[in-house]
Amino acid sequence: MHRILVTGAGGQVGQEIQALQDRYPSWEWVFTDKDELDLSVPGQIRTFFQNLSFDYCIHCAAYTAVDRAESEPELAARINAGAVRELAQACKEQGTFLIHISSDYVYDNSLNRPLQETDPTTPKGVYAKTKLEGDRAALDVHGPSTLILRASWIYSSFGHNFVKTMLRLAAEREEIRVVCDQIGTPTYAADLAQTILGLIATGQAKAHPGVYNYAGEGVCSWYDFAQTVIGLANLPCRVVPIPSEAYPTPAPRPFYSVLDKTRFKAGFGSSLPYWKDSLEDCLRKMEIL
Ligand SMILES: NC(=O)c1ccc[n+]([C@@H]2O[C@H](COP(=O)([O-])OP(=O)(O)OC[C@H]3O[C@@H](n4cnc5c(N)ncnc54)[C@H](OP(=O)(O)O)[C@@H]3O)[C@@H](O)[C@H]2O)c1
Repeated sequence: MHRILVTGAGGQVGQEIQALQDRYPSWEWVFTDKDELDLSVPGQIRTFFQNLSFDYCIHCAAYTAVDRAESEPELAARINAGAVRELAQACKEQGTFLIHISSDYVYDNSLNRPLQETDPTTPKGVYAKTKLEGDRAALDVHGPSTLILRASWIYSSFGHNFVKTMLRLAAEREEIRVVCDQIGTPTYAADLAQTILGLIATGQAKAHPGVYNYAGEGVCSWYDFAQTVIGLANLPCRVVPIPSEAYPTPAPRPFYSVLDKTRFKAGFGSSLPYWKDSLEDCLRKMEIL
């Protein structure tokens, strides 16, 4: 039996974990979102942990509005960095193992080859910088009992994401324009959720703490991703490839953020699904396929 705290329970990964909880009937679950545990308020975590104890904390909550973070840097830093430090401290005091989700954005994305966990971290933009600060805080405070999974391009049948936006736009328009010069790999949140729970169930999370990249296998551009979503959904919308300059955003985006997953696969003896297979799973769940 494990007692598990899941933060950000209403987000993409949080909801996928909730959808899997029946597979672990002997585990006790506590799911929190802003109403139960507002990470923007210093001290809330300490108060929350006062009367509760957990074997594992799966920290899915974050300030994820990448562009809005440019105009709310203090709030983003508070949630993505300050709160992670407090959470790691509370976990340390309680003997709770921390599973923290991070991002491909923390790396130096000018390397133009798959990014390894040991590569330089030179994040650009407020979201990216605060996510790296959060990673460092967790490792600094509670390193031996922390597992960090750095994922990229997360989507799900739950919440808001690129897949849902493309489906909506393609249903409304004859043509959509999507950037074709940013390369990465989508991560299906259901795969990530299943992986996390599997690592807890098998004891592998505690046995192999540290930082690991996690994403689907394969590589695509946002344009390829959009084409594939719209093609699978059989929508009669033309997808036009455009360069990033034609779609300026307040926060810079990495041009090459393919993650090297060798450490994850070797460390956990696990394979990862090909991104298109996972996308098909997601679209089936949404009853589009
Ligand atoms: N989405 C991606 O493409 C992506 C890529 C790489 C890594 N990641 C990381 O993966 C993790 C999970 O991402 P996700 O896509 O599941 O995120 P998400 O869908 O945006 O969910 C984030 C959750 O955090 C909650 N939250 C925000 N501010 C909070 C606060 N002050 N107190 C408590 N909860 C708060 C949100 O609640 P509200 O909805 O009420 O605000 C939401 O439930 C995050 O650490 C993210 O940085 C995401």
